[in-house]
Amino acid sequence: MIEKNIIVALDDPLDYQDVLKVLDPKKCILKVGSIIFNYHGRKILDEVANYGFEIFFDIKFHDIPNTVSKSIESFKDYPIKLLTIHLSGGCSMIKSALDSSKNINAKCIGVSILTSLNEEESREIYNQEIVKTVSSMFDLAKKTDIDGVVCSPHELKLARDQLKNKIKITPGIRLSDSCSDDQSRVMGPKEAINLGATYLVIGRPITSHADKASAFEKIYQSIYEK
Ligand code: C5P
Repeated sequence: MIEKNIIVALDDPLDYQDVLKVLDPKKCILKVGSIIFNYHGRKILDEVANYGFEIFFDIKFHDIPNTVSKSIESFKDYPIKLLTIHLSGGCSMIKSALDSSKNINAKCIGVSILTSLNEEESREIYNQEIVKTVSSMFDLAKKTDIDGVVCSPHELKLARDQLKNKIKITPGIRLSDSCSDDQSRVMGPKEAINLGATYLVIGRPITSHADKASAFEKIYQSIYEK
């Protein structure tokens, strides 16, 4: 098991500073995604970096290869450990993104399909059911030798079979006693790690908790305790 498995999602652009103050950069990575990045721009990356955190830059790049490459390389001065692209951008885009990510010392992670899509929408766009679409995206991930994928807890088995040594980043993680919200297909932290998740993306159970440090610690301990 790696040392820092937890990625804490900073999704509230007006209420994130306490998270920076109370969490330990030695124990977790922070996710900067489109909500907070579109609100604050690059200064949020500076702020997170100044607190000593590594960054999961979850922007999901999706454009022609040259545009994606140049966009990625423009972030070379930030401590971005992992960044995301859409696998549906295709082979050439993935390879360009991978090269550019290497140039900025970041791992390039592919999003298969958005988990918000239902069966009907998957058929409308990809002409096949979700599981087949995810599987063909994972084939593309393997063929391009991308560093890893984002997958729901319930795709971990498929990812483990198709992408043995690749990074797997999994949202939808909840401790069984945590509050109910809009995540519908959830899994416990330890269970997801045991199923092959490399990193767990966890937001509100930590960031919306009155005592963020102890909420984090409880999840952290649940992973590392024997
Ligand atoms: O607050 P919560 O723990 O639900 O946050 C999960 C994070 O993972 C959010 O930043 C959300 O955008 C992200 N995510 C997700 N489901 C996906 C992909 C990303 O919840 N399929």
